[in-house]
Amino acid sequence: MGIVQRSRTRIALSGRVISGKGEGRYYMRQMGYRRQFIARLGIDPYIGTLNIKLSKKSCVMLAKIKAKRGMLVKGFTFKKKKFGDVSCYRAMLRGIGCILIAPRLSPYTEIAELIAPSSLRRLLKLKNGAVVRIAVFVK
Ligand code: CDP
Repeated sequence: MGIVQRSRTRIALSGRVISGKGEGRYYMRQMGYRRQFIARLGIDPYIGTLNIKLSKKSCVMLAKIKAKRGMLVKGFTFKKKKFGDVSCYRAMLRGIGCILIAPRLSPYTEIAELIAPSSLRRLLKLKNGAVVRIAVFVK
């Protein structure tokens, strides 16, 4: 594991892959966000978010992660629509580096949303219901 990971605390989450309502695709397509993912996180993300429905214990851990600052992707207004701030945390899913994103105004407390440079489903052959563990690195 690289130096970045070692200097951080690792929090494990577990859950199952689920499908959402295509919202991730809508948000990830916004240039206001994309530009910042490229500039601040150094990744040009695949258009979408992989949703993981967390176990009860992991929901508690997700709340703890969200209480940490992470890397901030700032909200913006586009065509009179407001897009909120998003906290981002480096993560690993089955050996693949990815980012856990936590939209600050998100109502979801049971779902972990992951972004990555390419499709995690394709890369890891993930189907709905697949049980996965995510390692999240927080300061
Ligand atoms: O349709 P849904 O809301 O589940 O997802 P989406 O955010 O619109 O993303 C489109 C598809 O790509 C979904 O099947 C996601 O699970 C998947 N995805 C992925 O495999 N890897 C990513 N890095 C992001 C999304």
